[in-house]
Amino acid sequence: MKPATSSPDSAPLDNLEEWEDFLKERYPEPAGAKSGFKATDPEKKKEQFRNYEADARPTVREFYRLNHRYQTWDFVQAKREEFLGHRRRKMSIWEALEYLNTLVDDSDPDTDLSQLDHLLQTAEQIRRDGHPRWFILTGLIHDLGKILCLYGEPQWAVVGDTFPVGCAYSDTIVFHQFFADNPDINDPRYQTRLGVYEEGAGLDSVTLSWGHDEYIYHIAKDYLPEEALYMLRYHSFYPGHRESAYDFLMNDKDKAMMDWVRTFNQYDLYTKSHERPDLKKLRPFYDELIAEYFPATLEW
Ligand SMILES: [Fe+2]
Repeated sequence: MKPATSSPDSAPLDNLEEWEDFLKERYPEPAGAKSGFKATDPEKKKEQFRNYEADARPTVREFYRLNHRYQTWDFVQAKREEFLGHRRRKMSIWEALEYLNTLVDDSDPDTDLSQLDHLLQTAEQIRRDGHPRWFILTGLIHDLGKILCLYGEPQWAVVGDTFPVGCAYSDTIVFHQFFADNPDINDPRYQTRLGVYEEGAGLDSVTLSWGHDEYIYHIAKDYLPEEALYMLRYHSFYPGHRESAYDFLMNDKDKAMMDWVRTFNQYDLYTKSHERPDLKKLRPFYDELIAEYFPATLEW
C-alpha cells in the first residue's frame, strides 16, 4: 500500500485493513449477527465511544485526521468531476478484480490474503447464507472502487467512514474533533443542521465525502438492482447506517433501503478469515454470475 514514492500524507496506514480492523473494534460483531441485527445500541455511552479513539493506532488516528481535514465540499465536487466526469480505462469486472489485486499491502501481520481473497470470502459467506445472486455479486465487487489507490489517490480519499459534506458534522463521527481543521467549519452555509440540503430530500441529493463507495456505485448503477446499489454506495456510511445520525436527510425509500445496507455490513465487517478461497474451483461460478448482470467490459 505504501509505494516508495508515497508521502506520509497519502498513506498513513500500513494497509487499508487497519481502517477496517478499527471499524471492527468500534462495531464488534453483535450476538445473533446477520439475523435480527440492531443498527444502533441506544445504551452506548459517549464515554465508550471516546475509548475507540484513545485506543486507535497512531496510524489510524492520523488517517482520520487527514480525512476530516481535507474532505471539504469543494474537494468532493472536484473528485466527482475527476473520476465520474470521465472514465480512464475499459475493463471487465474480473480484470478490475485482478487489477485491484495488484494493490499489495506494505505489511499485514495477520494475513497474507489478497484483496481478491477478501472479496471472495465476503461473497462466499453471502452465498452460503442463501441470499439472492445479485447479493453475492455485490459482495464480490463492493470494494472494487479501491482501485482509486492504484490511480495514486491518497488513502483518506479512498476509504474511511463516509459522511455528508455541506451540512454540520454529526458528533457520532469518529474523531469529530479533527473537523476543527476542515475549512468548511468556517463556512456558515455548511454548518447548520441541514446545510445546503432540505429536510427528508433523500440521500441521492446528498453529497457524501469522497471514496471507493461512490466510485463503484457509478460504475455499477446501470446493471444491478436498487438494493445492491444502496449497498455499494453506502456501505462505508457508518454515521448513516450504524449511528442513524442522518435520518433527517433520508426519504422513506432510503430508510427502508438502509436495512439492506445493514444486512450487507455484517458480511463486510465480519467475514474475513485466514482461509484462502479456492479460486480455481470458484471461478466458473463467478464468471457466470458476472456475465448474468454485467457486459463484457465496463468503463472505469
Ligand atoms: Fe468498502
